[in-house]
Amino acid sequence: MATDYDAIAQEYQASKLMPWRKHIEAYTYFNLIGDLNGKDVLDLACGDGFYTRQFKLRGASNVVGVDLSAGMIALAEEAENAKPLSLTYICSDAAELSIDKQFDLICASYLLNYAHDEQSLKAMCDAIFKHLKPGGKFITINSNPDYRGTVDSLMPYRFTRENESYKEGAEIIYRFYQPDDSFVSVTNYHLERATYTRVLESSGFTDIKWHVMELSKEGEEEFTSDFWKVILNDQPVVGISSRKI
Ligand SMILES: C[S@@+](CC[C@H](N)C(=O)[O-])C[C@H]1O[C@@H](n2cnc3c(N)ncnc32)[C@H](O)[C@@H]1O
Repeated sequence: MATDYDAIAQEYQASKLMPWRKHIEAYTYFNLIGDLNGKDVLDLACGDGFYTRQFKLRGASNVVGVDLSAGMIALAEEAENAKPLSLTYICSDAAELSIDKQFDLICASYLLNYAHDEQSLKAMCDAIFKHLKPGGKFITINSNPDYRGTVDSLMPYRFTRENESYKEGAEIIYRFYQPDDSFVSVTNYHLERATYTRVLESSGFTDIKWHVMELSKEGEEEFTSDFWKVILNDQPVVGISSRKI
């Protein structure tokens, strides 16, 4: 499947090296995910397998990664061939996924923000619910619908975020800057927090909680509090946890 990520797969990889990814994004995500030991994990919108590999290395017994972009899956498979971790990758739209298996834990970093309306969000959430075992958790990090920062305020972290508007389905354009100051863009879609909550509930999820992004102790020590002030205040990304009973 061809997506806008095929053309930028390598540049997107470089953007994962920025300090905020490690000290805020990954720190918050892994805190929400909790113990991975012995878990059967499905990683949706896995991209190049950045988190897929870490789930396995942190103790998951089995991890399957799914992504719409053939280019991203090719990078994930390349890494798997270079250093095998027994990971399985599938190129598919998460909303159309149908594998004959249920997982203890489903994770998704930046999937739901590709739904441009309530109907496409519902298709994603129904597919997630179907692939989760009863008692399982769905943990995701996502574009924060409540972000109201200015376009350039996130530049210290080498990216910008522009909301076309705050109407349902409006485009959110991210630019990720490279070391040579060129950038790649990706487009997400704005849906209100209430829409996400309503749709997750209607797919059957319970115990739906929203989580602010937090800074690791290491991040606090490595950079000044001034450096982190804007991203912690404006919160471009948000976490959501939920369960299937
Ligand atoms: C911002 S990247 C995140 C990749 C990875 N989760 C990470 O954090 O490094 C978003 C990914 O979502 C994928 N994607 C977008 N829409 C999708 C869909 N409907 N089903 C599966 N993957 C999708 C894109 O191809 C891209 O690889």
